[in-house]
Amino acid sequence: MSDTREKLVVTEKLRKYFPVSAGFMKKNYIQAVNDVSLHIYRGETLGLVGESGCGKTTFGRTLLQLYTPTAGKIIYGGKTIFDSENGIHENMLPYRRKMQLIFQDPSASLDPRMTVGEIVGEALDIHKLYPNKKDRADRINELLTRVGLNSEHANRFPHEFSGGQQQRVGIARALAVEPEFIVCDEPISALDVSIQSQVVNMLEDLQEQIGLTYLFIAHDLSVVRHISSRIGVMYLGCLVELAESYELCGHPIHPYSQTLLSAVPLTDPEKNRHRQRILLEGDIPSPLNPPSGCRFHTRCPYATDWCKEAMPELKEYSPGHYAACHMLDK
Ligand SMILES: Nc1ncnc2c1ncn2[C@@H]1O[C@H](COP(=O)(O)OP(=O)(O)OP(=O)(O)O)[C@@H](O)[C@H]1O
Ligand SMILES: [Mg+2]
Repeated sequence: MSDTREKLVVTEKLRKYFPVSAGFMKKNYIQAVNDVSLHIYRGETLGLVGESGCGKTTFGRTLLQLYTPTAGKIIYGGKTIFDSENGIHENMLPYRRKMQLIFQDPSASLDPRMTVGEIVGEALDIHKLYPNKKDRADRINELLTRVGLNSEHANRFPHEFSGGQQQRVGIARALAVEPEFIVCDEPISALDVSIQSQVVNMLEDLQEQIGLTYLFIAHDLSVVRHISSRIGVMYLGCLVELAESYELCGHPIHPYSQTLLSAVPLTDPEKNRHRQRILLEGDIPSPLNPPSGCRFHTRCPYATDWCKEAMPELKEYSPGHYAACHMLDK
């Protein structure tokens, strides 16, 4: 069956290396994101998970070109906006309106010297939206109401708000410019558990009302499995598996995803007690000097000599279920 869904965002072998000095005249590179190819359908939530430091934030920011990609291709709405091979590097200003970011730490992402009204209004001003003073004020009030705050909040400063309310301000700021696509970088991990579900529900409601598309980044599969239609798993800069949420959570085929899933608590305490956890040996290697071949081979219980030599490619093993593992080719 052909896939007729519209791909709003596509990356092809997207790479981001950060240069670091390695002594006199020598440069080394942190290989934060290594040739990640994926697509995000319009209107869906793609979850992205993986251990701390595996490159999730860097991928999100490189996709938005807040970091200049080292190599690869980004296609947005059918148009190539970055292509290292053909020297395409579109002016991002018109795309900044369509592609927004919600940050992990709301308090650090809001300027403490600006009122909430100024913070939300600044986004409007950058894109020259609502030049009329009254329209601008109305729009700010409408946005604050939309995220569960009210017009009185516009004159207050970020420190006068709780963490959950600050994140609502961050969301109002992202919504101000009427985006289509939002990278939500761990938007709830800094919040109290009781508030997390409120913010997730609000993001889901907004998605339905406005038809937004999300890349939802999280450490933890238990957070993304409920809100994502599909989930991608990253390990040390590489995408190792991508599938529909129920498929990935029910039948993970990459050994690393299997490990991540075995750590997600089950709702049934009895099943939880008897379940076998897969424990990984060793620490996550450094992205400065990643292992040869498959990056997971140093911790993989099934690794062979071939895994040490060749990097496995991401392949489709069943419709819409992709993984990068030599073991699956046997
Ligand atoms: N601006 C930067 N300059 C140099 N190195 C960076 C920069 N940003 C990230 N890195 C490095 O790139 C790698 C990936 O970091 P990144 O923040 O993308 O991981 P992450 O998966 O988002 O982690 P976390 O779950 O902790 O947020 C890490 O080794 C990090 O130290
Ligand atoms: Mg991060």
